[in-house]
Amino acid sequence: MTETHAPLKLVVLISGRGSNLEAILEAIDTGKLPAVVSAVISNRADAPGLAYASERAIDTLVLDAADYPDRDAYDHALQGMIDLFNPGLVVLAGFMRILSPAFVHHYTGRLINIHPSLLPEFRGLNTHQRAIEAGTAEHGASVHFVTEELDGGPVIAQVRVPVLPGDDADTLAQRVLEQEHRLYVTVIQWIAEGRVTLEDDGVYFDGEVLNAPKRLETT
Ligand code: GAR
Repeated sequence: MTETHAPLKLVVLISGRGSNLEAILEAIDTGKLPAVVSAVISNRADAPGLAYASERAIDTLVLDAADYPDRDAYDHALQGMIDLFNPGLVVLAGFMRILSPAFVHHYTGRLINIHPSLLPEFRGLNTHQRAIEAGTAEHGASVHFVTEELDGGPVIAQVRVPVLPGDDADTLAQRVLEQEHRLYVTVIQWIAEGRVTLEDDGVYFDGEVLNAPKRLETT
């Protein structure tokens, strides 16, 4: 017998384009992802992803850092806004802000991020350019639970792509991004199905400690 779950309530945080958000919404529409996006929140009013969400009648909210005296005040307001929707999972999808410890602790185990590198390699910004400059043969993306350490939380899953001769940061970013969309949808699906959790001693997958990130094959 197949176990059924209520759709997982997501709040998605973005800062820009929103292509990962779009992939999540498409997966929900096609019935692949048992989830619902309750709200999309951006720190930038001009984030293109906001328009995409409002076209679908999803609540969109903007919280501008210029309106807050410091990071703690901003994150406190952001937390209050997110909690209005009582999400089961907060999804960082290109949300380009560092989060304060109090915020991260509040969402322990229900806050995930996608990062365009094979963590722990290339934390931070400009990952594609740095991968090329390092001469690495493989690059990719990681989805991880968020902890206080920037891009340092336990990794749930990764997808790898080759770095090809002649790649520049843009061609490599595009190759990674296509795989990011599959990766993020897959991991959110696992969480929605109760297959992945964060416990005191690490990430669990199907009831067992995950000793290494799950690896998604590229298509
Ligand atoms: C994605 O490549 C995501 O991995 C990256 O921002 C891009 C957002 O694209 N996130 C980070 O670099 C976080 N450190 P999108 O707005 O089209 O989803």
